Amino acid sequence: MSVIGCGYLGAVHAAAMASIGHDVIGIDVDERKAAALADGIAPFFEPRLEELLREGIAAGRLRFSTRMADAEGATVHFLAVGTPQQPGAHAADLRFVDAAVEALLPHLRADDVLAGKSTVPVGTAARLADRVAAAGATLVWNPEFLREGWAVHDTLTPDRIVVGATEGDAGARAVDVLRDVYRPAVDAGTPFLVTDLATAELVKGAANAFLATKISFINAMAEIAEAAGADVRLLADAIGHDTRIGRRYLGSGIGFGGGCLPKDIRAFAARAEELGRGEAVGFLHEVDAINLRRRDRAVQLVVDALGGRVFGRRVAVLGAAFKPFSDDIRDSPALDVAVRLRGLGADVVVTDPAAIDNASAAHPQLGYARDRDDALRDADAVVIVTEWDEYRRHLSPEHAGALVRGRVVIDGRNCLDAGAWRAAGWTYHGMGTR
Ligand code: UGA
Repeated sequence: MSVIGCGYLGAVHAAAMASIGHDVIGIDVDERKAAALADGIAPFFEPRLEELLREGIAAGRLRFSTRMADAEGATVHFLAVGTPQQPGAHAADLRFVDAAVEALLPHLRADDVLAGKSTVPVGTAARLADRVAAAGATLVWNPEFLREGWAVHDTLTPDRIVVGATEGDAGARAVDVLRDVYRPAVDAGTPFLVTDLATAELVKGAANAFLATKISFINAMAEIAEAAGADVRLLADAIGHDTRIGRRYLGSGIGFGGGCLPKDIRAFAARAEELGRGEAVGFLHEVDAINLRRRDRAVQLVVDALGGRVFGRRVAVLGAAFKPFSDDIRDSPALDVAVRLRGLGADVVVTDPAAIDNASAAHPQLGYARDRDDALRDADAVVIVTEWDEYRRHLSPEHAGALVRGRVVIDGRNCLDAGAWRAAGWTYHGMGTR
């Protein structure tokens, strides 16, 4: 098989497919990325990925290339290129999808299967299907639900596999091909859902829209809890026991970021508007607005905690990645908070176990410390913005208290034991907690 596009999705997919016995070629236009992957080096932080890369390469089942012609000979091709937000608009930019398909068409052979994995606006697959069919091959849509930090696990043991296909023999045959590709997961009982192309595309957008909505829902409750003197963490625990609601994705704090949820809900709403159904997902604008308001609130809490005098004050920012177990800083709420505090004149020192290199390249104006304790030293306030275990579990309030100048902590992820920090002499501020 070939995997076209070797970013988070494609690199992990290629390595995971090789690990279950397939013969895989990963293709990416970025020479440095392809060369690193061919050497068994992951271009980003992802647990277990390098192990799989090295095993696949050593076994001769995994190669990387920059030449689309190397896709020839593969019978299944996975399309895993990025679909970023269009500059200055909310819609998805399909440039890379279109370019990859155009480049692949001359190399497709009769009966090949092209499986789209990229997150695309509904209708994209139908538009591409005819072109692929004209080359004698068949297009299916096979959305991906992996989470960064858990990408290998999610790819090898997904909670469901969705394949959208056209009606008729070619579509049915292509579905069988994908069932074979995912044989270990299918045999282990993973639900395998066959849909039409449009439904498969929508499943992906709907899943991310639902997750984003769940997070913004609890953050909206945090706003109310704060005004009412209630505690959103206890509220989440209590409603989360209702299995119809569930506790997951009710983590309150500075909200969601990353390369997927923010851009996907915007693209979903933009596409709905094109379809004349903008009203149906009008709430997604609210979900987005609630989410962005959390970052303002975190900054305000720091300002208030410093008595309104931020200029020249030292603030330790614990976290830069958009979530733990990742070095990804795309639309990271953590970095956004740091940048805004710096904009107010604070002497910001950011630390993160994995994302310092990415963060300092993108925001050289911020101060950085690789060592957590160096970041804490002489801080007038501490703000936790990514809930790494290094801050959540392995940082005692006594240890931190001995390093800082002011025992003031703002818990942007509602992840600390407020009682323990207060008992150690800290002024603790959560986000909608007591
Ligand atoms: C998300 C989805 O979870 C995946 O299923 C999907 O495949 C992926 O997008 C994608 O479209 O490719 P990911 O972006 O890796 O995965 O991150 P999540 O783990 O979902 O977290 C997203 C953001 O929400 C993070 O900033 C995280 O800190 C925040 N979050 C998550 C909360 O604020 N509260 C929570 O309870 C959970």
